[in-house]
Amino acid sequence: MSDLLAHVESVWQSVVPELPGFTVEVLPSIDSTNSELMRRARAGLMEPVLLVAEEQTAGRGRLGKGWHSRAGQSLTFSLALPLAPADWSGLSLAVGVSLANSLHPDVMLKWPNDLWLQRRKLGGILVETAHNGDNATRQRLVVVGVGINIARPEAAAVAALASPDATVAPMAPAGLAEVLVGLTAGETLKRVTPALVRDLQAFESQGFAAFVQRFAQRDALTGQSVQLSDGTQGKACGVNEQGALLVLTAAGMQTITSSEVSVRPC
Ligand code: BTN
Repeated sequence: MSDLLAHVESVWQSVVPELPGFTVEVLPSIDSTNSELMRRARAGLMEPVLLVAEEQTAGRGRLGKGWHSRAGQSLTFSLALPLAPADWSGLSLAVGVSLANSLHPDVMLKWPNDLWLQRRKLGGILVETAHNGDNATRQRLVVVGVGINIARPEAAAVAALASPDATVAPMAPAGLAEVLVGLTAGETLKRVTPALVRDLQAFESQGFAAFVQRFAQRDALTGQSVQLSDGTQGKACGVNEQGALLVLTAAGMQTITSSEVSVRPC
């Protein structure tokens, strides 16, 4: 907790000039930082806020999975920001690009937005949006949830939180300390937050087109054989300007847009 608190002031100072009204909160424990900011949004709170938790008791991942993290050994935060891009496609990929760029040259992206280190999962991103109820001024708030392993988590703890109908054992996870020895959660937060805010603002004005090239440089799947959740196999051929994954299959080039489709190397 003291490590996170030690960095909050400088995180706030680096962001507030570009984001008036921005606040930062650090909590020792909460069910899920995403759930909390979504509850606040539904209650009408639409101000930009960064919520960091030392511990989550019900962390949520994509595709209905849980997200396991250990106090002091991982970074878990959510950033809520009012956003009005002309096109929302590719937002979660843009977040991945931003984090990978801030973290380390070896961090790669597995479509749509897993952070990978040496082909093992380093972190995950959960993007959700909420509207305020008023139709006249219908404003949309994006909640960007980020979990990054600092120390390398034990595979058993991660497996325990995998979806109950999972047929494939989760890969052994990675930790940032493998390439950035001694970096703390607080230092990691300071490293990623200012650029994340700037990149979300760039996404709002330019869309995913501004991130396509940087995604390609970090794309861990390009050229790999992949299998989709429906069993279809093919070769990953990068992403298009909307952030959809292109997969060359026996039936031709498929454009995978649904975030509900899982893709794994095979
Ligand atoms: C995934 O890879 O499945 C996404 C994981 C996202 C985890 C983060 S941790 C902070 C925020 N709060 C949550 O409950 N989830 C996200």
